[in-house]
Amino acid sequence: MKNIVVLVSGGGTNLQALIDAEKKGMLGNGKITCVIASKADAYALTRAENNGIKTRVLVRKEYDDVAAYSKAMTEALKEEKADLVVYAGFMTILDEQVCSAFPYKMMNVHPALIPSFCGKGFYGLHVHEAALKKGVKLSGATVHFVTEECDGGPIIMQKAVEVKNGDTPETLQKRIMEEAEWKILPESVRLFCDDKISIVDGKAVINQ
Ligand code: GAR
Repeated sequence: MKNIVVLVSGGGTNLQALIDAEKKGMLGNGKITCVIASKADAYALTRAENNGIKTRVLVRKEYDDVAAYSKAMTEALKEEKADLVVYAGFMTILDEQVCSAFPYKMMNVHPALIPSFCGKGFYGLHVHEAALKKGVKLSGATVHFVTEECDGGPIIMQKAVEVKNGDTPETLQKRIMEEAEWKILPESVRLFCDDKISIVDGKAVINQ
């Protein structure tokens, strides 16, 4: 089995989608063994506890800088013997120490079709505000490997979602979560845990 460690900062609906998928046998050879939050009051921690999953909290504010926080996170991930690290609504930046300790073993779900509306400053509702401001007719979600470049690692899966007249950032976020994120994140995790993803010329290739 592969140990999956999930990093969270907030509500944890993507974590819930992973927990539900595991219960249905849809994470293949993977098992969620630990949830690590960057905030002590993240509701995602309650979701983990309700499902008997070990939790840890590494509060960003308790560390002087990104390097110190990244070092602590790398140590925690090694202690947890993580085979896969999933950023599921994890809003804290980590540096290259973590990426080099877990190369192509960390994935992130982003609530837009990368390379649109991504990079520094594009997180949570800000992403949907930007999409609505631009007037795009399609947005969606992307799951990608985490590299040193913010939202720039190899893309694993994407799913498009229609933008509707009258959408607010909140309604668009909800539709993208329901129709895209909660589907492609568990599926990407399954593909990884079943060794179906390879990196070829810097791109992720899925071998079904
Ligand atoms: C999700 O929409 C996720 O894609 C986004 O934050 C939300 C977290 O919700 N992540 C980012 O913006 C990362 N750049 P959740 O806590 O309910 O899963």
